[in-house]
Amino acid sequence: MTGAGLPNGASSRHNSGLPSAESLRDVLSPLAAITNERDALYMEILTKPEEISDIAFGFMGSKALFAALHHNVFTHLSGDAMTAAELSRACGLHTDRCNTLLTALAGLGLVSVDDGKFANSPAAEAFLVKGAKYDFGDYLRLQVDRQMYRLLDQIDLALSDDLPEDATSSYADWFSDAEEARIYSESQHAGSLGPARGLAKSIDLSGARHLVDVGGGTGAFSITLCKAFPNLKATVVEFPNVAALGERYVAEAGLSERISYIHENAIEAKWPTGVDVVLMSYLFSGVDGELHKNLIARAFDGLAPGGQILIHDFIVEADRTGPKNAALWQLQHTAFTPRARSLDAGWLADALSAAGFKDVSVEPMIPGMTMLARGVKPA
Ligand SMILES: C[S@@+](CC[C@H](N)C(=O)[O-])C[C@H]1O[C@@H](n2cnc3c(N)ncnc32)[C@H](O)[C@@H]1O
Repeated sequence: MTGAGLPNGASSRHNSGLPSAESLRDVLSPLAAITNERDALYMEILTKPEEISDIAFGFMGSKALFAALHHNVFTHLSGDAMTAAELSRACGLHTDRCNTLLTALAGLGLVSVDDGKFANSPAAEAFLVKGAKYDFGDYLRLQVDRQMYRLLDQIDLALSDDLPEDATSSYADWFSDAEEARIYSESQHAGSLGPARGLAKSIDLSGARHLVDVGGGTGAFSITLCKAFPNLKATVVEFPNVAALGERYVAEAGLSERISYIHENAIEAKWPTGVDVVLMSYLFSGVDGELHKNLIARAFDGLAPGGQILIHDFIVEADRTGPKNAALWQLQHTAFTPRARSLDAGWLADALSAAGFKDVSVEPMIPGMTMLARGVKPA
């Protein structure tokens, strides 16, 4: 196994300039910390019916986790083991139902049980207690459970291209609802700060003056990079409901003079030209796959000679062996963007080279989840 959790020989083909996943791992999101074993990243070929059952019933486990988060179970258990009766009073649940939920959590290993008292597992204590340094409970509870999993109900019809008129069939559709855009974007902002800090520590943009952040959300990457590189300014291209929120984050960071928004669909908007960096983080996974080459070409045209493109997204290995979480997130996006395409490292490296970029690299970023592709426009 390589340090990045990739199978030997299967890691990315180019290696120019970007850090290894090892150097990023410490500063990336907690998701990275808990998915860094090879077996957790790449699916084994199954032989037993129980293994199929584990996949089929996995959704029950997901819902047990989300229900516990909704009722603040891990936060109440923090530091103190409790009986079901004690916890039921703290959470406002009926004792029998609290006991059933705690038993399911114990079956999953999220809590331990000893002499009738339930306690947080070390992972629950570190990552699911409100206010804990690495708490990502709200991201799971809001974006994954309330939004993403509901959209997954559309997957069968999305796959056969039969989504009804009133279904959510693109980010544009989805985020025309301001409240949906807010819930999603706030969770995403929190989730992207870790990877953004990792990128800022691992890449030297001190010579860059202008970055265009296409589909940049509420600016987690632009804000972090502008803080790290005082000479940098950024333009974020985003849908109006997201851009309005992003401007608030930018103002809170004291960066309104250096980060501005274009409030438009990035596919239709004009992007600034003569820039030093074009960043597209999680944009490719949520647009029609037919547009990928066009987005790369537009980035090439907009960059000054010597400028670079950065594409961060769910990307699988060229041979499609995984990683499984990247592959599953791609499928998830298909549920609300039926024309989305499963992006692989080989295709992307070839497409960047064909567009004229040199020093092309595609490297793991959040291990088991995302990769970062990079290319430089020849001077
Ligand atoms: C998963 S979020 C990522 C946000 C940010 N790039 C990051 O990495 O934190 C995907 C973002 O792409 C934006 N997006 C998707 N399609 C877009 C389009 N056609 N025009 C503008 N923004 C788009 C969405 O609004 C959303 O904010």
